[in-house]
Amino acid sequence: YFPKMIEITEVGPRDGLQNESKFVSTEHKKELIEQLVKTGVKRIETASFVHPKAVPQMADAQEIVAFSKDLGIDFLVLTPNMKALELALAAGVEQIAVFVGASETFNERNIRRSIADSLQECEEMFKVAKQHHLFVRGYVSMCFSCPYEGAISYEQVARVVSHFVKHGVDEISIGDTNGQATPKMVYERFAQLRKDYPNMKFIAHFHDTNGFAYANIIAALQAGITAFDSSVGGLGGCPFSPGATGNISTNKLVELMHKMDIETGIDEEKLLVTSEFAHNIIM
Ligand code: HMG
Ligand code: MG
Repeated sequence: YFPKMIEITEVGPRDGLQNESKFVSTEHKKELIEQLVKTGVKRIETASFVHPKAVPQMADAQEIVAFSKDLGIDFLVLTPNMKALELALAAGVEQIAVFVGASETFNERNIRRSIADSLQECEEMFKVAKQHHLFVRGYVSMCFSCPYEGAISYEQVARVVSHFVKHGVDEISIGDTNGQATPKMVYERFAQLRKDYPNMKFIAHFHDTNGFAYANIIAALQAGITAFDSSVGGLGGCPFSPGATGNISTNKLVELMHKMDIETGIDEEKLLVTSEFAHNIIM
């Protein structure tokens, strides 16, 4: 079974750039986002409201959000805590993403909170977000294995997913943050999630650390997943996940889908030029 089309959320400007140690100028970030829009990408995660000491690359989030609002696309902003949500509301953001790790150790390193505390804070954020009619994505990171804890069980993932579902998130992105999943793990985990939460939209978020990510995409499609996160030119990693390499490349994802007669709405040639630009600005 393969679908006729998939949805892509381009996460390069946030998940891709956040791991780059050299600061990419605000002008270059804007140019990258503008070029991405021209490729036909419908939705972009453009920035995150995080502590500039934790992720210096995202220090210009306010300006990027102000710019993104005029481009006529859906854009998503990562908001790790209530303070971030307040900043996002003040900036006029319409779609936010919260994130919680399925692994306790990763969650503590990433946002300096236990999973229980993170879930509690998310609950409060969801209430505020809903009052303001925001679209809410919930990310669950480290859904297959963790660099600190090893294998992650379905129950660990379901704990976070259940909370997100109960409190009304609009979609859930399931992350193989350190890129260790195999097609078997991906198929089984997504099939189980779809069975247990039939009304929830799940997105597959893969990293290509082990070179299995494109096999994992096929396994996710076979489990009925039709929405993917990817990053132009495969930019990225995660500053709190040692050794994690880039997200799956939007270029490769689009090429693979088109060769399988699956539509993406994205122009491969324009995307190639954009990925060259992306690589030049991080050099
Ligand atoms: P904290 O230190 O626990 O925050 O940081 P706090 O509430 O204790 O406050 C300490 C100071 O930070 C205060 O300032 C706050 O105002 C300030 P001070 O009074 O000392 O001057 N502060 C903030 N400043 C700017 N923006 C904020 C904010 N919140 C508090 N939002 C925090 C908590 C989460 C903010 C911090 O640890 C942080 O920014 N961490 C970075 C997290 C991050 O971006 N991680 C990478 C995300 S990628 C990921 O998780 C995986 C994903 O991509 C999926 C995948 O790839 O698989 C989603
Ligand atoms: Mg990622």
